[in-house]
Amino acid sequence: MVKAIEVENFSYKYPDGTIALNGVTLDVEYGERLALIGPNGAGKSTLLLAITGFVRGTGRVVIDGMGITNGNLKKVRSRIGCCLENPEDQLFMPTLFDDVAFGPLNMGLDSQQVKQRVNLALAEVGLAGMAERAPHHLSAGQKRAAAIATVLSMSPKIITLDEPDGSLDPRNRDNLVKLLAGLSQTLVIATCNMDFAAAVSDKAAVIDGGRVIAAGPAEQIMSDSKLMTSHGLEVPRKFINGYSAA
Ligand SMILES: Nc1ncnc2c1ncn2[C@@H]1O[C@H](COP(=O)(O)OP(=O)(O)O)[C@@H](O)[C@H]1O
Ligand SMILES: [Mg+2]
Repeated sequence: MVKAIEVENFSYKYPDGTIALNGVTLDVEYGERLALIGPNGAGKSTLLLAITGFVRGTGRVVIDGMGITNGNLKKVRSRIGCCLENPEDQLFMPTLFDDVAFGPLNMGLDSQQVKQRVNLALAEVGLAGMAERAPHHLSAGQKRAAAIATVLSMSPKIITLDEPDGSLDPRNRDNLVKLLAGLSQTLVIATCNMDFAAAVSDKAAVIDGGRVIAAGPAEQIMSDSKLMTSHGLEVPRKFINGYSAA
């Protein structure tokens, strides 16, 4: 059975010699929402870069049934969209419309189709009617939503998000939880905020020292206080002693 993402014995060393990933094996099924949790420096961002083809190491990465090779990166990236840690890295055009249209235009769609996709993507993230705004004038929460729209407009099957809760206040974090809950794509969400992880995921993988330490149903993994604390993490409030904030 084809999986959304298959990573097998993948290792990656940065040019300065830092081993960021060391024999990672991890599967993500279609429709799953995987929280990639681990302390700072664990390898979360590097793993997201590996599954979106931005870093190439040893081992196997298969996206939507396609092994990543030099020749098929464009095709792979039409199936998997990545939201970078800093939304400003994805917003560089004069208007929100241009930013969200950038991907569909690159895919060769005509202007009518592009317009349709932009409007749909902006509506999906709660920014309908803001297409003519300058992205750098948006609030932090709106920038995060806009960056997600730039990915949604390409209709990927899979979306990765690197610490999307970073620099959001509680209200904007709640809005992001709702936005993510409304998406139908397979999601891989890296975060070190365990309450956020518990709110957005159905599966979780603990990564530390460039290795996947444990992976399984979100509640099973994140309610294991020994596992969590031994990797510098904490049990989310939702999973403490049967207390449910959901
Ligand atoms: N560009 C880089 N060059 C060298 N080492 C890096 C680079 N980026 C990250 N690292 C190192 O790789 C390891 C994993 O980092 P990263 O994937 O960013 O972890 P996380 O996202 O979990 O915080 C860390 O030891 C980090 O210092
Ligand atoms: Mg990171």
